[in-house]
Amino acid sequence: ESLEEQFLKDFPSYDVEGLVRGEPGGFVLTPQYGEHAEELYNFHVRPDDIWVLSFPKSGTTWTQELVWLIANDCDFEGAKKKLNDRSPFIEKGENHYAHLPSIEKQLELVGNLASPRIIKTHLPLDLLPPQLSETCKVVYVARNPKDVIVSYYFHHQLIKFHYFDGDLQSFAHRFMQDQVFYSPYFGQILSAWERAKTDENVLFLFYEDLKKDLRGGIERVARFLGKSLSEDQLAKLTQHLTFENLSKNSAVNKEEGKTSGSFNENGQFMRKGETGDWEKHFSPELSRQIDEWTESNLRGSDITFVDKI
Ligand code: A3P
Repeated sequence: ESLEEQFLKDFPSYDVEGLVRGEPGGFVLTPQYGEHAEELYNFHVRPDDIWVLSFPKSGTTWTQELVWLIANDCDFEGAKKKLNDRSPFIEKGENHYAHLPSIEKQLELVGNLASPRIIKTHLPLDLLPPQLSETCKVVYVARNPKDVIVSYYFHHQLIKFHYFDGDLQSFAHRFMQDQVFYSPYFGQILSAWERAKTDENVLFLFYEDLKKDLRGGIERVARFLGKSLSEDQLAKLTQHLTFENLSKNSAVNKEEGKTSGSFNENGQFMRKGETGDWEKHFSPELSRQIDEWTESNLRGSDITFVDKI
């Protein structure tokens, strides 16, 4: 039995690629999402919520930890609690990740969190409560498509529910054909980018900028959230958030995915944490195809990844 056949057995409503297209926007979402779409769209937001949004593998976990610590005045003691309990992933649960509670529980968890809540989602703005950025703060993090493809490929190898056993090249083609969860990649990035231009409650960050200047990124997020950090806090937070430290931090690095059986033994969620790792993995031809695909998707937009790869 191929992995794809296994997938179809588990998720019979899916088409041959093992994916369904959500509405609106043609986004590829999980069956679990479908069961909760309305609830998520009508989710009761609090004015002081902070939402962390991204396409998967763009530095979400990193940004969540950063935002949580700023919003909580660098409470490093409190940050020893598992990240998902402090900042739940609202549209995914135990069907995919045995170490997470069910979506119902995730929603309950969010409902019971003290303010300000920091909520993680990979859903595009179009599928989230329309009043989100009228009242809440939204931090969107984006990463260049080539590193996202590589990172997402290894993520598919790590996480069992993805049922993907192809090679990187076939994964990259799937990605470009919008056949991976949360596709289309540019669909959600472009809508967040446009929104951030006119909406002061939306901050658009790039993974690569955080990588180049983490301290500057922290200061930017703190300003956006109306917080000031002491020199000491800033220095500690910058240290806390380096790849070296975060990848060893068991509250954040998701190693529990292994004990719960959601993750395969080989591989890590906190894999490499670099910009430009794609160069080690793509043939010149594949790289060129991704460039072309990127260019055609970004035609007419002023967002660019040219300086981010
Ligand atoms: P790699 O697979 O390239 O290593 P997400 O949280 O959105 O799933 O993103 C995961 C990616 O962010 C992984 O990329 C992970 O290693 C990287 N990452 C996590 N923490 C990081 C940090 N402190 N610095 C740099 N990259 C980090």
